[in-house]
Amino acid sequence: MNEKLEKAINDQINAELYSEYFYMAMYAYFDRMNLQGFKNWMNVQMQEEHAHAMGMFNYIHERGGKVILDKIEQPKSDWSNPVEVFEDVLKHEKYVTSRINDLLDIAEEVNDRAAVSFLDWYLKEQVEEESNVSNVLKTLRMVCDDKHCLYMMDKDLASRTFNPPVIG
Ligand code: FEO
Repeated sequence: MNEKLEKAINDQINAELYSEYFYMAMYAYFDRMNLQGFKNWMNVQMQEEHAHAMGMFNYIHERGGKVILDKIEQPKSDWSNPVEVFEDVLKHEKYVTSRINDLLDIAEEVNDRAAVSFLDWYLKEQVEEESNVSNVLKTLRMVCDDKHCLYMMDKDLASRTFNPPVIG
């Protein structure tokens, strides 16, 4: 694989692991608040991010490249309320989408069609991720302005389950 592309995918492994870490910090926040459904939502999110990182990890090896792991940045650990948490999630997912777009630019630049096809999966996944997060945020902002609603929403988010993605 092209060196620049291999380095960029390695950097994205780090970004996906950071995402897992970031959502783990939110998982801890919701655990402190005893919001079990929100905590469950974050737990599913963490597992998805781990799967995203491993998808790229496995792909580098499949292409005969070398996985190089870097240190993971420290995420923040405090928020004022669940709305603020989900605003951060949406901002973060938009940032990840821009990173996947940049990765695709590199794959196209070095004319690696196999990598373009592999990375397309991630782009589609980002559309889904942004939409999921937007929906939670919309409900939180527009409907949920009291504790009773937060309680009901917590019950709802408890039903989210992790389905291991088939990447690529
Ligand atoms: Fe792996 Fe939420 O992007």
